[in-house]
Amino acid sequence: MQITWKSPSNIALIKYWGKHGEQLPNNASLSLTLREAHTITSLALQKKRSKKDIELDFKFAGDQHPKFAAKLELFLSSLKNDFPWLNKNRLVLRSDNSFPHSAGIASSASAMSALALCLMSVERMQTGKYTDDASFLQKASHYARLGSGSAARSLYADFTVWGKTPVVKGSSDLFAIQSPTQFHADFHELQDSILIVSNQEKSVSSRAGHALMNNHPMAAQRYKNARKRLEDLLGALETADWDMFCKTVETEALELHALMMTSDPSFILMHPNTLAIIERIRFFRATTNIPVCFTLDAGPNVHVIYPYFAKKQVRNFIQSELLKFCHKKTVIYDQMGDGPSMLI
Ligand code: DP6
Repeated sequence: MQITWKSPSNIALIKYWGKHGEQLPNNASLSLTLREAHTITSLALQKKRSKKDIELDFKFAGDQHPKFAAKLELFLSSLKNDFPWLNKNRLVLRSDNSFPHSAGIASSASAMSALALCLMSVERMQTGKYTDDASFLQKASHYARLGSGSAARSLYADFTVWGKTPVVKGSSDLFAIQSPTQFHADFHELQDSILIVSNQEKSVSSRAGHALMNNHPMAAQRYKNARKRLEDLLGALETADWDMFCKTVETEALELHALMMTSDPSFILMHPNTLAIIERIRFFRATTNIPVCFTLDAGPNVHVIYPYFAKKQVRNFIQSELLKFCHKKTVIYDQMGDGPSMLI
């Protein structure tokens, strides 16, 4: 039996930063599901050859990867009560990304969601449960979350919300849902061009970053701000209020980095070129009135967000004014995507 899933990455517009309990978020986040950046993962079950509890044969991009394999073994071991077949079979897992691993793009969201979907597909075959898409995807989002919080949001098309909030009906801390807000046609095929400022691995893992929020002097205010911004952003998506959209998305990104800079220990993940790009985006927006803004992950790369109708002008601007700040002039052109798909 072999199962293969393709699952996308996502970029948070309202950030998840700070968690408690078993991978539960301290505030609700909202993300854009991407189309091009994805992971393809296949899982096959074979007869066990050893007495090892979790017998994993893992390859990433065709090669052994002991560091990833060790993490995956731990994760799979933590799920063996939920999936009793995990330690009764040899697990042959193959995974690959559409983007270079060294591009400095977070891959845990696409990787963990693809894995969760493979696990759920086998579970569905073994138990006959989860035959409807809704319960299948909800449970996949739950397991993706246990692997990496942001992965919970990769299961659905367009915009996704993870974390319980009174402003989004049906939202939960345990799994993400597709945002029920009717977003304005302006946001269809929303563009995300990822400017690779550095391809270095992150100096601080997001796990460690989340932990630093526990004693952060600004934590309470941060969660309050995130709640307000989620409301503002949902309103902007409904009415195509681009000023509010750009302001909210940029403030979220800068607040994420401000929290990192002011945590103990402090860390700075932006590079000088990150700031150079940000300044130029703001100048371009102010002088052209084209709605283009930026967001950042926990790293120096810049996601340039803009509507489909401004694609030509913004891409010209990226080519002529921003590429010089990128590592080897690397940009990945992405956009809103449809969520995961099963491959045969
Ligand atoms: C800055 O999902 O990578 O990208 O749950 O520890 O795996 P873990 O963290 P992770 O954190 C993502 C942080 C972020 C913001 C976001 O995606 O919402």
